[in-house]
Amino acid sequence: MSKKMKKYIWKISTIIICFSISSLVFAQTKTTDECLACHVELDDELLTPAQNYINDIHYKKNITCAGCHGGNPNSDDTEISMSEESGFIGIPDKATRYEVCVNCHANDETMNNYNSSLPTDQFDKLKISIHFQPSFDNTGPITDCITCHSVHNISKVDDPRSKVYPTKIVSLCGGCHTSADIIKNYNPALPIDQVAKYKTSVHGKLNISGDPNVAECASCHGSHDIFASNDPRSHVYATNIPEVCAKCHSNAELMKGYNLPTDQYDSYNKSVHGLALLEKGDISAPSCNDCHGNHGAVPPGVESISKVCGSCHVLNMELFEKSPHQKAFTENDFPECETCHGNHSIRYVTDDMIGTQESAVCIECHSSDDDNNGYFVAGKMKMLIDSLKNEDKATKEILEEATQKGMDISDSEYSLKDVRQILIQSRTTIHTFNLEKFKEKINEGFTIVGKARQAGTDAVDDYYFRRVGLGIATIIVTILVIGLYIKIRRLEKKT
Ligand code: HEC
Ligand code: HEC
Ligand code: HEC
Ligand code: HEC
Ligand code: HEC
Ligand code: HEC
Ligand code: HEC
Ligand code: HEC
Ligand code: HEC
Ligand code: HEC
Ligand code: HEC
Repeated sequence: MSKKMKKYIWKISTIIICFSISSLVFAQTKTTDECLACHVELDDELLTPAQNYINDIHYKKNITCAGCHGGNPNSDDTEISMSEESGFIGIPDKATRYEVCVNCHANDETMNNYNSSLPTDQFDKLKISIHFQPSFDNTGPITDCITCHSVHNISKVDDPRSKVYPTKIVSLCGGCHTSADIIKNYNPALPIDQVAKYKTSVHGKLNISGDPNVAECASCHGSHDIFASNDPRSHVYATNIPEVCAKCHSNAELMKGYNLPTDQYDSYNKSVHGLALLEKGDISAPSCNDCHGNHGAVPPGVESISKVCGSCHVLNMELFEKSPHQKAFTENDFPECETCHGNHSIRYVTDDMIGTQESAVCIECHSSDDDNNGYFVAGKMKMLIDSLKNEDKATKEILEEATQKGMDISDSEYSLKDVRQILIQSRTTIHTFNLEKFKEKINEGFTIVGKARQAGTDAVDDYYFRRVGLGIATIIVTILVIGLYIKIRRLEKKT
C-alpha cells in the first residue's frame, strides 16, 4: 500500500469516526420544538412559558410543549402546529388541567417509555385526599398537581428550585394554611397557626436556616395522600405517627450529623405507652406528638416538656408539685417525672421501685448517711406497702378457711377489694414524698384489713363454737335417746 493510499484511508476513517461521533452527539441533543422556537419570539404570557420551560424537567426529558398542550411540534406554521386536527387543546381548563399531568404520571407504560422509575400513584392518592374536594367557588379541586408543582418550570422534587423542596414547602402549604380567608370557606374551626408554631420548634428553626433534613409539613403529613388528622388514614393519626418520626429519628445515617440518639422509637414501642397505643389500640395513651407537640416546641397547655406527663397523669403531677422534690429537682435541674420513670422506655411500675433495696430509684440520691430523711421515708413507705400486702394476704387466707368451713363472710371478702384500690392510690400518694400523707392513705387499707381479719377470725371461732355446741347437743340427745330407750324397756318388762 502506498503512503498516499494509507493517508487516504486514514483520512476517510477519521471522517467516518468524526461523523459517527457527531451523529451520536446530535442524537443526544433535543429534537427541535417549533412551538418553543416560535414562542420565545412572542410577548408576555405567550413568551413566559417558553422562557421558563428551558429549565423544566420535562424539557430535559425531550418533552415538547405539545406533550401537554397537544399540537404538532414539528411545524413552524401556526395553522398546522396549533390546529385542532393535530390535537391542540389550547390552555387547559383550570378545573381539569391536572388531567394533562395524569395522562403521563398515572400511566406506567408512558413513564417506562421515558425510562422513568418514578412511582405512578400520585393521582390515586391525591384524588381521595382532603385536598381534592371541589373548591368552594367551583373552579376545580382545592389543590391539583400545578398548585404544588407549578407548571413550565417544574423541577425534580429534590432540586432546591422545586416548590416542594423541604425549605420551600412551608411557604407553599402556608400560602393557604395561614389564610383565614381561604380556610374559613371550608372548615372555619380549622386552626391557621401551624406555620407560626412550627417556626418555634427545633424542626422549624433549622428549616428556616436552610436545613432540608428536618421534618417539614410533607414529611409528617405526606404529600399526595393528606387527610384530616382524625382520619385513621392520615399519616399523623395517633397510631401512625411513631413510624413517621422513626423514618428520620431511627435513621442513624441521618442523625449522625446531629449527635442525637436513635433509640426513641424502639424504646417507645416497648414502653407502657407504646404497648397501650400500638398493641391495644388505646388512643388515650400518648403518641410521640402528645409529648412533643404537633407543630410547636411543646404541646399546647404545657410550658416545658418535663410538665407534659401532668397533662394526663394529673394527680401525680399535683402531688409532686407540692412535694419536697419540686424545689429540690428544680434547683438541681432534674427533669420532674423522667428522673424516676424515664421518657421513652417508661414501664409499668412495681413496688421494687420504692424503698432502700438495690432496685429502688430512691437510693440513686438518698443514702443512710444523708442528714435529710429521704432514705428513712423511702424505707418506711416500702415497709408499709409490703406489710399491707402481707396483711391482705393473711386475711384472705383466714377468710378462705372460714368459707371452706361453710361460714358466710362474703361482706368481708367484698370489703377487701377496696384494699387493692387503696394500694393503687398509695402508689400515687408516694408522689407527695411525705410520710404522714402517705400513712393517711395506706392506713385506710390497714383499717379495712383489720376489720376483715376480725370478721374472718370471728367466723372461724364461731364455727368451732358451733361445733362444740353441736357436740354437746349430740351427747345430750344421745343420752336422752338412751334414757328413753331404757325407760321403754322397763315399761315393756312391767307389762
Ligand atoms: C409560528 C409561531 C407559533 C408556533 C410554531 C406555535 N405557536 Fe402557539 N401561539 C402563537 C401565537 C402568535 C399565539 C397567540 C395567538 C393565538 O392564540 O393564535 C399562540 C398561542 C398559543 C397558546 C395560547 C392559546 C390560547 O388559547 O390563548 C398556547 C397554549 C400555545 N400557543 C401553545 C403552542 C404549542 C403547544 C405549539 C406547538 C405544538 C405552538 N404553540 C406553536 C405562535 C406560535
Ligand atoms: C407539563 C405540561 C405542560 C408543558 C410541557 C407546557 N405547558 Fe403550557 N400550560 C400547561 C398548563 C397545565 C397550563 C394552564 C396553567 C394554568 O391554568 O395556570 C398552561 C398554560 C400555558 C399558556 C397560557 C398562559 C399561562 O402562562 O398560563 C401558554 C401560552 C402556554 N402554556 C404555552 C406553553 C408553551 C409555549 C410551552 C412550551 C414551551 C408549554 N406551554 C409547555 C401545561 C404545560
Ligand atoms: C398538596 C401538594 C401536592 C399536590 C397537590 C401534588 N403533589 Fe406531587 N409532590 C408533592 C410533594 C411535597 C412531593 C415531594 C415529596 C414526595 O416525594 O412525596 C411530591 C412529589 C411528586 C413527584 C415525585 C415522585 C414521588 O411520587 O415522590 C411526582 C412525580 C409528583 N409529585 C407528581 C404529582 C402529580 C402528577 C400530581 C397531580 C396528580 C401531584 N404531584 C400533586 C406535593 C404535591
Ligand atoms: C408527556 C408526559 C408527561 C406529562 C404530560 C407530564 N409529565 Fe411530569 N414527568 C414526566 C417525565 C418523563 C418525568 C421525568 C421522570 C424521571 O426523571 O424519572 C417527569 C417529571 C416530573 C416531576 C419531577 C419528579 C422527580 O423526579 O422529582 C414532576 C414534579 C412532574 N413531572 C410533575 C408534572 C406535572 C405537575 C405535570 C402537569 C402539569 C406533568 N408532570 C406532566 C412526564 C410527564
Ligand atoms: C413533626 C410533624 C409535623 C410537622 C412538621 C407538621 N405537622 Fe401538621 N400536624 C401534625 C400532627 C401530629 C397533627 C395533629 C394530629 C392530631 O391532632 O391528632 C397536625 C395537624 C395539622 C393540621 C390540622 C389542624 C391542627 O392544627 O391540628 C393542619 C392543617 C396541619 N397540621 C398543617 C401543617 C402545615 C401547614 C405544616 C407545615 C408548616 C405542618 N402541619 C407541619 C404533625 C406535623
Ligand atoms: C390551595 C390551598 C392549600 C394548599 C396549597 C394546601 N392546603 Fe391543606 N388544606 C386546604 C384546605 C382549604 C383544607 C381544608 C379542607 C376541609 O377541611 O374541607 C386543607 C386541609 C388540610 C389538612 C387537613 C386538616 C384537618 O385536620 O382537617 C391538612 C393536614 C393539610 N391541609 C395539610 C397541608 C399540607 C401539608 C400542605 C402542603 C404540602 C397543604 N395542606 C397545602 C388548602 C390548602
Ligand atoms: C424528615 C426527618 C424528620 C422527621 C419526619 C421528624 N424529625 Fe424530629 N428532627 C429531625 C432532625 C434532623 C432534627 C434535628 C436534630 C437537632 O439538631 O436537634 C430533629 C429534631 C427533633 C427534636 C429535638 C431534639 C433535640 O433535643 O435537639 C425532637 C424532640 C424531635 N425532632 C421530635 C420529632 C417527632 C416527635 C417527630 C414526629 C412527629 C419528628 N421529630 C419527625 C428530623 C426529623
Ligand atoms: C411520654 C412522653 C414522650 C413520648 C411518648 C415520646 N417522647 Fe421523646 N422525649 C420525651 C422527653 C420528656 C424527652 C426529654 C426532653 C428533654 O430532656 O429535654 C424526650 C426526648 C426526645 C428526643 C431528643 C433526644 C433524646 O432522645 O433525648 C427525641 C428526638 C424524641 N424525644 C423523639 C421522640 C419520638 C420519635 C417519639 C415517638 C416514637 C417520642 N419521642 C415519644 C417525652 C416523650
Ligand atoms: C422520685 C421518684 C419519682 C418521681 C420524681 C416520680 N415518680 Fe411516679 N412513681 C415513683 C414510684 C416509686 C412509684 C410507685 C412504685 C410502686 O410502688 O409501684 C411511682 C408510680 C407512678 C405511677 C403509677 C401509679 C399511679 O399513680 O398510677 C405513675 C402513673 C407515675 N408514677 C407517674 C409519675 C408522674 C406523672 C411523675 C411526675 C409528675 C412522677 N411519677 C414522678 C417514683 C417517682
Ligand atoms: C396522653 C396521655 C399521657 C401522657 C402525656 C403520659 N401518659 Fe403515662 N400513661 C397514659 C396511659 C393511658 C397509661 C396506661 C397504659 C396502660 O395501662 O396500658 C399510662 C401509663 C403510665 C405508667 C404506668 C402506670 C402503671 O400503672 O404502672 C407510668 C409510670 C406513666 N404512664 C408515666 C408517664 C410519664 C413519666 C409521662 C411523661 C414523660 C407520661 N406517663 C405521659 C397516658 C399518658
Ligand atoms: C434524682 C435524685 C432523687 C431521687 C431519685 C429521689 N430523691 Fe428524694 N430528694 C432529693 C433531693 C435533692 C431532696 C432534697 C434533699 C435535701 O433537702 O437535701 C430530696 C428530698 C426528699 C424528701 C424530703 C426529705 C426531708 O428532709 O424533708 C423525701 C421524703 C424524699 N426525698 C423521698 C424520696 C423517695 C421516697 C424517693 C424514691 C421514690 C426519692 N426521694 C428519690 C433527690 C432525690
